[in-house]
Amino acid sequence: MKYAFPENFWWGSAASALQTEGESQGNGKGLTTWDHWFKEQPNRFHNGVGPQNTSTFYQNWKADIQLLKQLNHNSFRTSISWSRLIPEGIGEVNPEAVAFYNQVIDELLAQGVTPFMTLFHFDMPMAMQEIGGWENRDVVAAYARYAETCFELFGDRVMHWFTFNEPIVPVEGGYLYDFHYPNVVDFRRAATVAYHTVLAHSQAVRAFRAGHFAGEIGIVLNLTPSYPRSQNPADVKAAHHADLLFNRSFLDPVLSGEYPADLVALLKAYDQLPACRPEDSALIADGKIDLLGVNYYQPRRVKARDSAVNPLAPFMPEWFFDSYEMPGRKMNPYRGWEIYEPGIYDILVNLRDNYGNPRCFISENGMGVENEQRFIEDGQINDQYRIEFISEHLKWLHKGISEGCNCLGYHMWTFIDNWSWCNAYKNRYGFVQLDIITQQRTIKKSGEWFAATSLNNSFDI
Ligand code: BG6
Repeated sequence: MKYAFPENFWWGSAASALQTEGESQGNGKGLTTWDHWFKEQPNRFHNGVGPQNTSTFYQNWKADIQLLKQLNHNSFRTSISWSRLIPEGIGEVNPEAVAFYNQVIDELLAQGVTPFMTLFHFDMPMAMQEIGGWENRDVVAAYARYAETCFELFGDRVMHWFTFNEPIVPVEGGYLYDFHYPNVVDFRRAATVAYHTVLAHSQAVRAFRAGHFAGEIGIVLNLTPSYPRSQNPADVKAAHHADLLFNRSFLDPVLSGEYPADLVALLKAYDQLPACRPEDSALIADGKIDLLGVNYYQPRRVKARDSAVNPLAPFMPEWFFDSYEMPGRKMNPYRGWEIYEPGIYDILVNLRDNYGNPRCFISENGMGVENEQRFIEDGQINDQYRIEFISEHLKWLHKGISEGCNCLGYHMWTFIDNWSWCNAYKNRYGFVQLDIITQQRTIKKSGEWFAATSLNNSFDI
């Protein structure tokens, strides 16, 4: 059967500054929380590999953009590093960073690859973290100024901006589950960080609109559809709470301009509401986006809690649900994530039916696999599992589009095997294999498959 996609569909992949640039401590760049944390605790990073050793995009940008072209990408998302552009977070702009991002943007455009730019992909400048990070409203103002600087410097050529990539991840990682710096476990502080991130997003959107910059502005959210174990009301309620806390806490403000009333009521009931100012509601209302990026990796399966909550235990999202390991679910054994392709369709239908069918695209979807060298045949990784992963997701995406969902493109995570936060190079996601010693790049079978799909704007199966 042939699956054809709408005209001008965006085919491409995503990456981020810190995960690809390397040179995390040179060329005028300020440190991020990742550089700092790596220095403090290198053992938290797989094989002790830190952010200094990422895939050298800072030097090899031109050749890498050639590879994007070979993969027939018509679009590519990466991020600007705040601490490379403004080393202290506020104040002076680093001219070497301006030159670097100018070259990258110009070359992408020259090669016919539309640049999609994210302003914040997990890489908080250390100077900003030292004054409290997202817990401090001064950092919200500093971020808004940084965003405005990016629009002023690059807004004549970048037409698709994203304020944040997966803003809930630094909340979960840094303030709930200890997988990002500053390794705090405290729901109230997490709620403040999440709230201030929404304010920062809205400030940036305001600045974008006030400056009348061309193009559009959005955000990239990782949406994890929450499925209850059963239709039993207690399980359904558990799924509702998980959805509220992990999806709607960002989705509703950016699409509807306000928080869900039941989320506010829930946080109030448990005395976890962050401090708000009277002017915040108007600001949040101004943060409505033009374009939503959806990162989809896995669903969340939940059930009602097996045991009552101990009211003396610290408040956590898990007060409302237990996770549920559905028997027979398909897993990616390497990353430990479930593979559930219909989830991509369910997300699109939810956006269509409950959020007015916003302009959106799949901004990340991908499969991390360990030791891919064992699949080398004639010098090339034959990653049939990844081709199957992509095509199965694309079939569900295609169904969504044929039923009226407003999905404009599909970007894979990721272009080249890159450095992945604490997992470093453990799981490989790329269309292009990276030899981390020689830095040699070799296109995998999935890269060839994707290049053909993009060229034909369709695939047969
Ligand atoms: C997304 C992020 O959450 O998933 C990427 O936007 C990340 O930055 C990717 O690398 C894959 O996750 P991980 O943890 O396996 O690298």
